[in-house]
Amino acid sequence: MVPVITIDGPSGVGKGSIAQMLARQLGWHLLDSGALYRLTALSALRQGLDLADADAVATAARDLPVTFTAGEPGEPVAVLLSGEDVTREIRTEACGKAASTVAVYPLVRQALLQRQRDFQRLPGLVADGRDMGTVIFPEALCKVYMTASAEVRAQRRYDQLKRQGESVKISHLLKEIQDRDARDMGRVEAPLRPAEDAVIIDTSSLTLDEVLAAVLKVWSEKQA
Ligand code: C5P
Repeated sequence: MVPVITIDGPSGVGKGSIAQMLARQLGWHLLDSGALYRLTALSALRQGLDLADADAVATAARDLPVTFTAGEPGEPVAVLLSGEDVTREIRTEACGKAASTVAVYPLVRQALLQRQRDFQRLPGLVADGRDMGTVIFPEALCKVYMTASAEVRAQRRYDQLKRQGESVKISHLLKEIQDRDARDMGRVEAPLRPAEDAVIIDTSSLTLDEVLAAVLKVWSEKQA
């Protein structure tokens, strides 16, 4: 059995950073499932497809010409779409928004299901997303659900963009986060919610190191 730790939660809660730190510490593989939805949206847009056309977008998801360059365990990987490096492009707000639009379609989710499960390889997998514990890896021994208020997440995103020299209105970021939450939690297929056996960690007043320590504690308790 290949062990899996699932990390689910809403946008901007810091799942990606924690999943990466955890995978590095354990020497495990990392699945950034959100990247697959972002790549699907980008690929569909580049083919000139209408994002409202679920069948066409699902075909794009099935045929996704993506390569994740093999990095060290837990290291950020470069993402290539048809050979072109799109690592930065898929991180834009526009791509995240388009991803959450196409993630609503059941056909798209089915098209990406096996591709995600194929990441489960020895010595273990840290899987980051919205439905890792509920749908993709329901058998995972250790499931974590990270939360923080929308206001805290908007403030963190604001600080991050400011450090990168970008100026944005915090009210705009808050609205984007609230809209994304509504779409992710309100969809019929695989809505964002904690698995019944997930441990919920409210990160509102915790540093990344404190969250990492909390997740490692959950993992060691599950093994005992
Ligand atoms: O996590 P990230 O922000 O990269 O995800 C982008 C979008 O992809 C999310 O807002 C969500 O709609 C979708 N997603 C999903 N299921 C996952 C991961 C991401 O529906 N497991």
